[in-house]
Amino acid sequence: MNIGLIGSGGREHALCKKLSESNKIKKIYCLPGNAGTSELAINIDVDILNFKKILKLIKFYKIKIVVVGPEEPLVKGIANFLRKNNIKVFGPNRLAAKLEGSKAFMKRICKEFKIPTAKFQICTKENQVLNFVNKSNVPIVVKADGLAAGKGVSICKTKKIAIKKSFEILKGKFKSSNKVVLEEFLTGEEASYFVIVDRNNFKFFGTAQDHKRVYEKDLGPNTGGMGAYSPAQIVTKSIEKKIITKIIKPTLFALKKKGTHYIGFLYVGLMIKNNEPFLIEYNIRMGDPECQAILPRLKTDLFSIIKNTIENKLNKTSIKWYGKKSMTIVLCSKGYPGKYKKNIEIRNLNKVTLSKSDCIYHAGTKLVNQRLVSNGGRVLNINSTGKKFTSIRKKILSIIRKINWKDGFYRKDIGWRVID
Ligand code: AMP
Ligand code: GLY
Repeated sequence: MNIGLIGSGGREHALCKKLSESNKIKKIYCLPGNAGTSELAINIDVDILNFKKILKLIKFYKIKIVVVGPEEPLVKGIANFLRKNNIKVFGPNRLAAKLEGSKAFMKRICKEFKIPTAKFQICTKENQVLNFVNKSNVPIVVKADGLAAGKGVSICKTKKIAIKKSFEILKGKFKSSNKVVLEEFLTGEEASYFVIVDRNNFKFFGTAQDHKRVYEKDLGPNTGGMGAYSPAQIVTKSIEKKIITKIIKPTLFALKKKGTHYIGFLYVGLMIKNNEPFLIEYNIRMGDPECQAILPRLKTDLFSIIKNTIENKLNKTSIKWYGKKSMTIVLCSKGYPGKYKKNIEIRNLNKVTLSKSDCIYHAGTKLVNQRLVSNGGRVLNINSTGKKFTSIRKKILSIIRKINWKDGFYRKDIGWRVID
Protein backbone atom coordinates (compact mmCIF):
# COMPACT_ATOMS: atom_id res chain seq x y z
CA MET A 1 0.00 0.00 0.00
CA ASN A 2 1.17 3.56 -0.70
CA ILE A 3 0.93 6.06 2.09
CA GLY A 4 1.07 9.88 2.16
CA LEU A 5 2.59 11.90 4.97
CA ILE A 6 1.84 15.61 5.18
CA GLY A 7 4.40 17.95 6.77
CA SER A 8 8.10 18.76 6.68
CA GLY A 9 9.47 18.91 10.24
CA GLY A 10 11.42 16.66 12.56
CA ARG A 11 8.15 15.10 13.68
CA GLU A 12 7.41 14.04 10.11
CA HIS A 13 10.91 12.63 9.63
CA ALA A 14 10.41 10.53 12.78
CA LEU A 15 6.97 9.36 11.59
CA CYS A 16 8.41 8.62 8.15
CA LYS A 17 11.26 6.57 9.61
CA LYS A 18 8.92 4.44 11.74
CA LEU A 19 6.51 3.95 8.84
CA SER A 20 9.38 3.00 6.53
CA GLU A 21 10.20 0.11 8.89
CA SER A 22 6.84 -1.51 8.11
CA ASN A 23 6.83 -4.27 5.51
CA LYS A 24 3.18 -3.53 4.77
CA ILE A 25 3.98 -0.27 2.98
CA LYS A 26 5.07 -0.10 -0.64
CA LYS A 27 5.94 3.57 -0.96
CA ILE A 28 5.76 6.61 1.28
CA TYR A 29 5.12 10.00 -0.31
CA CYS A 30 6.05 12.99 1.83
CA LEU A 31 4.16 16.18 1.08
CA PRO A 32 6.54 18.02 1.03
CA GLY A 33 9.03 16.32 3.44
CA ASN A 34 12.60 17.46 4.03
CA ALA A 35 16.14 16.34 3.21
CA GLY A 36 15.87 13.58 5.83
CA THR A 37 12.64 12.07 4.52
CA SER A 38 14.03 12.11 0.97
CA GLU A 39 16.32 9.24 2.01
CA LEU A 40 13.36 7.06 3.04
CA ALA A 41 10.50 8.26 0.89
CA ILE A 42 9.58 10.26 -2.17
CA ASN A 43 9.26 13.98 -1.45
CA ILE A 44 6.73 15.96 -3.46
CA ASP A 45 6.92 19.72 -3.19
CA VAL A 46 3.42 21.03 -2.47
CA ASP A 47 1.77 23.68 -0.30
CA ILE A 48 0.17 21.75 2.59
CA LEU A 49 -2.82 24.10 2.54
CA ASN A 50 -3.55 23.51 -1.14
CA PHE A 51 -6.02 20.66 -0.54
CA LYS A 52 -7.10 20.34 -4.19
CA LYS A 53 -3.52 19.88 -5.36
CA ILE A 54 -2.92 17.37 -2.57
CA LEU A 55 -5.99 15.39 -3.65
CA LYS A 56 -4.72 15.30 -7.24
CA LEU A 57 -1.34 14.00 -6.05
CA ILE A 58 -3.00 11.38 -3.84
CA LYS A 59 -4.99 10.08 -6.78
CA PHE A 60 -2.05 10.20 -9.18
CA TYR A 61 0.31 8.29 -6.87
CA LYS A 62 -2.42 5.86 -5.72
CA ILE A 63 -2.00 6.82 -2.06
CA LYS A 64 -4.43 4.88 0.13
CA ILE A 65 -3.91 6.41 3.57
CA VAL A 66 -2.89 9.97 4.47
CA VAL A 67 -1.23 10.78 7.79
CA VAL A 68 -1.34 14.49 8.68
CA GLY A 69 1.58 15.70 10.84
CA PRO A 70 0.97 19.42 11.56
CA GLU A 71 -2.09 21.17 12.97
CA GLU A 72 -2.80 23.87 10.41
CA PRO A 73 -4.21 21.70 7.60
CA LEU A 74 -6.31 19.79 10.16
CA VAL A 75 -7.71 22.97 11.69
CA LYS A 76 -8.52 24.17 8.16
CA GLY A 77 -10.40 20.94 7.41
CA ILE A 78 -8.11 18.75 5.31
CA ALA A 79 -9.55 15.59 6.90
CA ASN A 80 -13.13 16.60 5.98
CA PHE A 81 -12.06 17.48 2.43
CA LEU A 82 -10.15 14.25 1.79
CA ARG A 83 -12.77 12.01 3.43
CA LYS A 84 -15.47 13.59 1.26
CA ASN A 85 -13.32 12.43 -1.64
CA ASN A 86 -13.11 8.87 -0.25
CA ILE A 87 -9.52 9.09 0.98
CA LYS A 88 -8.65 7.52 4.33
CA VAL A 89 -7.14 10.06 6.71
CA PHE A 90 -5.36 9.73 10.05
CA GLY A 91 -6.18 12.98 11.82
CA PRO A 92 -9.24 14.74 13.28
CA ASN A 93 -11.94 16.57 11.34
CA ARG A 94 -12.39 20.35 11.47
CA LEU A 95 -14.75 20.39 14.46
CA ALA A 96 -12.62 18.04 16.59
CA ALA A 97 -9.50 19.98 15.54
CA LYS A 98 -10.94 23.04 17.30
CA LEU A 99 -9.53 21.51 20.49
CA GLU A 100 -6.28 23.10 19.30
CA GLY A 101 -7.61 25.56 16.73
CA SER A 102 -9.67 27.55 19.24
CA LYS A 103 -8.61 28.00 22.84
CA ALA A 104 -12.07 29.44 23.58
CA PHE A 105 -13.69 26.21 22.27
CA MET A 106 -11.36 24.11 24.40
CA LYS A 107 -11.95 26.19 27.52
CA ARG A 108 -15.75 26.10 27.08
CA ILE A 109 -15.56 22.29 26.98
CA CYS A 110 -13.48 22.35 30.17
CA LYS A 111 -16.08 24.48 31.91
CA GLU A 112 -19.09 22.49 30.70
CA PHE A 113 -17.56 19.09 31.49
CA LYS A 114 -15.71 20.12 34.68
CA ILE A 115 -12.23 19.39 33.33
CA PRO A 116 -9.49 20.79 35.61
CA THR A 117 -7.85 23.80 33.95
CA ALA A 118 -6.74 27.34 34.81
CA LYS A 119 -9.52 29.85 35.64
CA PHE A 120 -10.27 31.89 32.55
CA GLN A 121 -12.30 34.50 30.73
CA ILE A 122 -13.02 34.57 27.01
CA CYS A 123 -13.03 38.21 25.87
CA THR A 124 -14.32 39.86 22.73
CA LYS A 125 -14.51 43.38 24.23
CA GLU A 126 -12.07 45.66 26.02
CA ASN A 127 -14.22 45.98 29.15
CA GLN A 128 -14.21 42.18 29.63
CA VAL A 129 -10.40 42.30 29.57
CA LEU A 130 -10.33 45.13 32.12
CA ASN A 131 -12.76 43.33 34.45
CA PHE A 132 -10.74 40.09 34.46
CA VAL A 133 -7.38 41.83 34.81
CA ASN A 134 -8.61 43.99 37.69
CA LYS A 135 -9.77 41.04 39.76
CA SER A 136 -6.71 38.82 38.97
CA ASN A 137 -3.27 38.44 40.49
CA VAL A 138 -0.19 38.68 38.26
CA PRO A 139 1.23 37.02 36.28
CA ILE A 140 -1.74 36.84 33.92
CA VAL A 141 -1.64 34.56 30.87
CA VAL A 142 -2.91 36.19 27.67
CA LYS A 143 -3.74 33.87 24.77
CA ALA A 144 -4.88 34.46 21.24
CA ASP A 145 -7.89 32.23 20.59
CA GLY A 146 -6.76 30.86 17.21
CA LEU A 147 -3.58 29.31 15.79
CA ALA A 148 -0.65 31.71 16.10
CA ALA A 149 2.41 29.64 15.12
CA GLY A 150 3.54 29.41 18.75
CA LYS A 151 3.44 33.20 19.24
CA GLY A 152 -0.05 33.53 20.71
CA VAL A 153 0.68 33.06 24.41
CA SER A 154 2.14 35.77 26.70
CA ILE A 155 2.79 35.39 30.38
CA CYS A 156 2.38 38.97 31.59
CA LYS A 157 4.13 40.12 34.74
CA THR A 158 2.11 43.33 35.06
CA LYS A 159 -1.55 44.17 34.52
CA LYS A 160 -0.53 46.96 32.14
CA ILE A 161 1.25 44.51 29.81
CA ALA A 162 -1.67 42.04 30.04
CA ILE A 163 -4.07 44.79 28.93
CA LYS A 164 -1.77 45.93 26.11
CA LYS A 165 -1.29 42.37 24.77
CA SER A 166 -5.02 41.65 25.01
CA PHE A 167 -6.02 44.83 23.18
CA GLU A 168 -3.55 44.01 20.38
CA ILE A 169 -5.26 40.65 19.88
CA LEU A 170 -8.75 42.23 19.99
CA LYS A 171 -7.60 44.65 17.28
CA GLY A 172 -6.62 41.75 15.00
CA LYS A 173 -2.93 41.04 15.59
CA PHE A 174 -3.55 37.40 14.69
CA LYS A 175 -5.56 36.68 11.58
CA SER A 176 -7.01 33.41 12.89
CA SER A 177 -9.22 35.07 15.55
CA ASN A 178 -9.79 38.37 17.38
CA LYS A 179 -10.86 36.71 20.63
CA VAL A 180 -8.64 36.71 23.70
CA VAL A 181 -8.52 34.04 26.39
CA LEU A 182 -7.22 35.35 29.72
CA GLU A 183 -6.05 32.81 32.23
CA GLU A 184 -4.87 32.49 35.78
CA PHE A 185 -1.14 31.54 35.91
CA LEU A 186 -0.63 27.93 37.02
CA THR A 187 2.51 26.84 38.82
CA GLY A 188 3.89 23.29 38.86
CA GLU A 189 5.70 21.02 36.43
CA GLU A 190 4.66 20.59 32.81
CA ALA A 191 4.32 17.25 31.04
CA SER A 192 2.89 16.02 27.77
CA TYR A 193 0.67 12.93 27.66
CA PHE A 194 -0.27 11.34 24.36
CA VAL A 195 -3.09 9.07 23.25
CA ILE A 196 -4.12 7.63 19.93
CA VAL A 197 -7.86 7.76 19.36
CA ASP A 198 -10.38 6.00 17.12
CA ARG A 199 -14.17 6.38 16.96
CA ASN A 200 -14.76 4.33 20.12
CA ASN A 201 -11.51 3.88 22.01
CA PHE A 202 -8.17 5.40 22.86
CA LYS A 203 -4.80 4.01 23.84
CA PHE A 204 -1.75 5.37 25.60
CA PHE A 205 0.86 6.70 23.18
CA GLY A 206 3.67 7.85 25.44
CA THR A 207 4.68 10.70 27.70
CA ALA A 208 7.38 13.32 27.30
CA GLN A 209 8.68 16.52 28.77
CA ASP A 210 9.48 19.32 26.36
CA HIS A 211 11.74 22.33 27.03
CA LYS A 212 10.05 25.32 25.46
CA ARG A 213 12.28 28.22 26.45
CA VAL A 214 15.17 29.04 24.15
CA TYR A 215 17.95 29.32 26.76
CA GLU A 216 19.34 27.02 29.41
CA LYS A 217 17.74 27.13 32.88
CA ASP A 218 14.42 27.64 31.07
CA LEU A 219 15.10 31.31 30.33
CA GLY A 220 14.26 33.47 27.34
CA PRO A 221 11.31 33.45 24.96
CA ASN A 222 9.16 30.42 24.13
CA THR A 223 10.03 28.28 21.11
CA GLY A 224 8.38 25.32 19.41
CA GLY A 225 10.56 23.13 21.67
CA MET A 226 14.32 22.88 22.20
CA GLY A 227 14.43 19.26 23.28
CA ALA A 228 12.41 16.54 24.95
CA TYR A 229 12.81 13.31 26.82
CA SER A 230 10.56 10.31 27.24
CA PRO A 231 9.11 8.92 29.43
CA ALA A 232 8.17 11.90 31.62
CA GLN A 233 8.83 10.57 35.07
CA ILE A 234 6.48 13.01 36.74
CA VAL A 235 3.50 11.18 35.21
CA THR A 236 3.05 8.48 37.83
CA LYS A 237 0.38 5.76 37.63
CA SER A 238 -1.90 7.68 39.98
CA ILE A 239 -1.54 10.92 37.98
CA GLU A 240 -2.14 8.97 34.76
CA LYS A 241 -5.44 7.68 36.14
CA LYS A 242 -6.53 11.23 36.87
CA ILE A 243 -5.48 12.43 33.39
CA ILE A 244 -7.64 9.73 31.84
CA THR A 245 -10.71 10.07 34.03
CA LYS A 246 -10.73 13.83 34.65
CA ILE A 247 -9.43 15.09 31.29
CA ILE A 248 -9.34 12.68 28.34
CA LYS A 249 -12.60 10.76 28.84
CA PRO A 250 -14.73 13.88 29.45
CA THR A 251 -13.18 15.57 26.39
CA LEU A 252 -13.92 12.68 24.03
CA PHE A 253 -17.43 12.48 25.53
CA ALA A 254 -17.86 16.23 24.94
CA LEU A 255 -16.95 15.85 21.26
CA LYS A 256 -19.54 13.05 20.91
CA LYS A 257 -22.15 15.32 22.51
CA LYS A 258 -21.27 17.94 19.91
CA GLY A 259 -21.98 15.37 17.20
CA THR A 260 -18.46 14.41 16.23
CA HIS A 261 -15.65 12.10 17.25
CA TYR A 262 -11.86 12.19 17.26
CA ILE A 263 -9.40 10.22 15.11
CA GLY A 264 -5.65 10.60 15.39
CA PHE A 265 -3.01 11.49 17.94
CA LEU A 266 -4.17 13.68 20.81
CA TYR A 267 -1.56 15.60 22.77
CA VAL A 268 -2.59 16.58 26.28
CA GLY A 269 -0.44 19.48 27.57
CA LEU A 270 -0.51 19.44 31.36
CA MET A 271 0.59 21.33 34.43
CA ILE A 272 1.00 19.00 37.38
CA LYS A 273 0.70 20.49 40.84
CA ASN A 274 0.49 18.56 44.12
CA ASN A 275 -0.18 15.35 42.17
CA GLU A 276 -3.13 16.90 40.35
CA PRO A 277 -3.12 17.36 36.55
CA PHE A 278 -4.48 20.58 35.01
CA LEU A 279 -5.09 20.86 31.28
CA ILE A 280 -3.05 23.70 29.74
CA GLU A 281 -3.71 22.93 26.11
CA TYR A 282 -4.71 20.29 23.63
CA ASN A 283 -2.80 19.70 20.45
CA ILE A 284 -4.43 17.59 17.78
CA ARG A 285 -1.23 15.91 16.61
CA MET A 286 2.05 14.57 17.93
CA GLY A 287 4.32 17.11 19.58
CA ASP A 288 7.50 18.31 17.93
CA PRO A 289 10.12 17.43 19.32
CA GLU A 290 8.20 15.07 21.68
CA CYS A 291 7.43 12.76 18.74
CA GLN A 292 11.16 12.45 18.04
CA ALA A 293 11.68 11.31 21.64
CA ILE A 294 8.67 8.98 21.88
CA LEU A 295 8.74 7.09 18.58
CA PRO A 296 12.19 5.51 19.07
CA ARG A 297 10.61 3.72 22.06
CA LEU A 298 7.72 2.27 20.03
CA LYS A 299 8.01 -1.46 19.44
CA THR A 300 4.77 -2.18 17.53
CA ASP A 301 4.57 -1.50 13.80
CA LEU A 302 3.35 2.12 13.47
CA PHE A 303 1.61 1.54 10.16
CA SER A 304 -0.53 -1.28 11.63
CA ILE A 305 -1.48 0.93 14.56
CA ILE A 306 -2.52 3.77 12.24
CA LYS A 307 -4.42 1.49 9.85
CA ASN A 308 -6.26 -0.17 12.74
CA THR A 309 -7.14 3.24 14.16
CA ILE A 310 -8.65 4.36 10.86
CA GLU A 311 -10.61 1.08 10.75
CA ASN A 312 -11.80 1.51 14.36
CA LYS A 313 -9.95 -1.52 15.61
CA LEU A 314 -7.86 0.09 18.36
CA ASN A 315 -9.44 -2.14 21.00
CA LYS A 316 -7.94 -5.13 19.18
CA THR A 317 -4.52 -3.48 18.81
CA SER A 318 -1.81 -3.99 21.35
CA ILE A 319 0.78 -1.20 21.43
CA LYS A 320 4.13 -2.25 22.87
CA TRP A 321 7.05 -0.09 23.97
CA TYR A 322 10.74 -0.66 24.64
CA GLY A 323 11.76 -0.09 28.25
CA LYS A 324 14.64 2.18 27.21
CA LYS A 325 14.74 5.92 27.78
CA SER A 326 14.96 8.43 24.98
CA MET A 327 16.01 12.05 24.50
CA THR A 328 16.09 14.46 21.59
CA ILE A 329 17.99 17.75 21.45
CA VAL A 330 17.17 20.34 18.83
CA LEU A 331 19.97 22.04 16.91
CA CYS A 332 18.70 25.48 15.91
CA SER A 333 19.86 28.20 13.58
CA LYS A 334 21.42 31.17 15.44
CA GLY A 335 18.77 33.84 16.03
CA TYR A 336 15.83 31.41 16.45
CA PRO A 337 13.05 31.98 17.63
CA GLY A 338 13.70 35.53 16.34
CA LYS A 339 15.23 36.27 12.96
CA TYR A 340 17.65 33.71 11.57
CA LYS A 341 19.33 33.04 8.25
CA LYS A 342 18.34 30.23 5.90
CA ASN A 343 20.29 28.32 3.25
CA ILE A 344 23.39 27.84 5.39
CA GLU A 345 25.31 24.71 4.52
CA ILE A 346 25.62 21.89 7.07
CA ARG A 347 28.81 20.13 6.02
CA ASN A 348 29.72 17.43 8.48
CA LEU A 349 26.62 15.29 8.72
CA ASN A 350 27.89 12.44 6.57
CA LYS A 351 31.11 12.33 8.60
CA VAL A 352 29.21 11.50 11.80
CA THR A 353 28.95 7.79 12.51
CA LEU A 354 25.95 6.82 14.57
CA SER A 355 25.36 3.68 16.61
CA LYS A 356 22.09 1.73 16.44
CA SER A 357 20.74 3.64 19.42
CA ASP A 358 21.22 7.10 17.83
CA CYS A 359 19.34 8.92 15.12
CA ILE A 360 19.49 12.33 13.51
CA TYR A 361 16.11 13.60 12.39
CA HIS A 362 15.99 16.48 9.95
CA ALA A 363 13.65 19.34 10.78
CA GLY A 364 14.45 22.48 8.76
CA THR A 365 16.72 21.17 6.02
CA LYS A 366 16.69 20.85 2.27
CA LEU A 367 19.00 19.63 -0.44
CA VAL A 368 20.18 22.21 -2.95
CA ASN A 369 22.36 20.73 -5.72
CA GLN A 370 23.22 17.80 -3.44
CA ARG A 371 24.31 20.21 -0.68
CA LEU A 372 22.51 20.02 2.66
CA VAL A 373 21.36 23.48 3.78
CA SER A 374 19.25 24.86 6.62
CA ASN A 375 15.69 25.81 5.78
CA GLY A 376 14.15 26.71 9.14
CA GLY A 377 14.79 27.75 12.74
CA ARG A 378 14.86 24.25 14.17
CA VAL A 379 17.24 22.44 11.85
CA LEU A 380 18.26 19.01 13.18
CA ASN A 381 17.01 16.81 16.03
CA ILE A 382 19.55 14.49 17.57
CA ASN A 383 18.09 11.48 19.35
CA SER A 384 19.63 8.76 21.41
CA THR A 385 18.18 5.99 23.55
CA GLY A 386 19.57 3.98 26.43
CA LYS A 387 19.30 3.10 30.10
CA LYS A 388 20.11 6.43 31.75
CA PHE A 389 19.28 9.98 30.77
CA THR A 390 22.72 11.13 31.92
CA SER A 391 24.63 8.96 29.46
CA ILE A 392 22.04 9.50 26.72
CA ARG A 393 22.51 13.26 26.94
CA LYS A 394 26.30 12.93 26.93
CA LYS A 395 26.05 10.86 23.76
CA ILE A 396 23.80 13.38 22.02
CA LEU A 397 26.07 16.29 22.96
CA SER A 398 29.08 14.43 21.57
CA ILE A 399 27.24 13.90 18.26
CA ILE A 400 26.33 17.60 18.10
CA ARG A 401 29.95 18.55 18.69
CA LYS A 402 30.94 16.33 15.76
CA ILE A 403 28.35 17.98 13.53
CA ASN A 404 30.13 21.19 14.55
CA TRP A 405 27.71 23.49 12.75
CA LYS A 406 29.05 26.97 13.43
CA ASP A 407 25.76 28.69 12.60
CA GLY A 408 23.79 26.62 15.08
CA PHE A 409 23.10 26.55 18.82
CA TYR A 410 21.41 24.18 21.25
CA ARG A 411 20.58 23.68 24.92
CA LYS A 412 22.96 21.47 26.86
CA ASP A 413 20.61 21.08 29.82
CA ILE A 414 17.71 19.15 28.27
CA GLY A 415 16.35 16.77 30.90
CA TRP A 416 17.78 18.79 33.82
CA ARG A 417 14.88 17.81 36.06
CA VAL A 418 15.80 14.13 35.76
CA ILE A 419 19.59 14.60 35.53
CA ASP A 420 21.05 17.60 37.37
P1 AMP B 1 -0.09 26.89 25.17
O1 AMP B 1 0.10 27.27 23.74
O2 AMP B 1 -1.48 27.13 25.68
O3 AMP B 1 0.43 25.54 25.47
O4 AMP B 1 0.92 27.78 26.01
C1 AMP B 1 2.32 27.75 25.78
C2 AMP B 1 3.06 27.64 27.08
O5 AMP B 1 2.72 28.71 27.94
C3 AMP B 1 2.75 26.38 27.89
O6 AMP B 1 3.50 25.28 27.51
C4 AMP B 1 3.10 26.85 29.29
O7 AMP B 1 4.50 26.80 29.49
C5 AMP B 1 2.68 28.28 29.29
N1 AMP B 1 1.31 28.42 29.81
C6 AMP B 1 0.17 28.44 29.10
N2 AMP B 1 -0.90 28.60 29.90
C7 AMP B 1 -0.44 28.70 31.14
C8 AMP B 1 -1.06 28.89 32.42
N3 AMP B 1 -2.38 29.05 32.56
N4 AMP B 1 -0.25 28.93 33.51
C9 AMP B 1 1.09 28.81 33.39
N5 AMP B 1 1.73 28.65 32.22
C10 AMP B 1 0.99 28.59 31.10
N1 GLY C 1 6.58 20.90 21.44
C1 GLY C 1 5.35 21.53 21.55
C2 GLY C 1 4.40 21.29 20.48
O1 GLY C 1 4.58 20.42 19.64
O2 GLY C 1 3.38 21.98 20.44
